[in-house]
Amino acid sequence: MRLLVVCLGNICRSPMAEGALRHHLAASPLAGSVEVDSAGTSDWHAGEPPDRRAIACARQHGVDIAGLRARQLRREDFERFDWLLCADGQNLRDVRGLAPPGLAGKASLLLEWTGIEAGGSIPDPYTGGPADFDHVWRLVDSAARAAVRRLSCG
Ligand code: 4NP
Repeated sequence: MRLLVVCLGNICRSPMAEGALRHHLAASPLAGSVEVDSAGTSDWHAGEPPDRRAIACARQHGVDIAGLRARQLRREDFERFDWLLCADGQNLRDVRGLAPPGLAGKASLLLEWTGIEAGGSIPDPYTGGPADFDHVWRLVDSAARAAVRRLSCG
């Protein structure tokens, strides 16, 4: 099973979600059987580490995401990954717009796919403050725990 988390810049929400997913999967019976990556719909921050506020927030929760590097979503990702899990509705529209024929169904909202909230979006914290990053962490951490449950049920 291969999961790709997608947001706009790949420096805030999706690397935080990638870190939370890796953390909870590693501590589960699924360890080693689920591959996780993240990407941005834009190339604005390609090659950069996560935003320092995202790194600090994840670190406060015991997760190290400093080694991640941003990259842009590419069409091959639709072949490689089973699911492309988007942070918000705009990301989902952008991802579906890039999908090769027949593969748009692999794209979903992360919060919806994990059963947290139908139609739910993770708000962009980029222009916000530490409380906004904490809010993102709570959402992606809940989503990661729920993803482990979903994948464990077959
Ligand atoms: P992300 O946040 O999509 O969660 O990585 C953003 C990062 C950068 C920008 C916007 C959102 N930006 O405008 O550069």
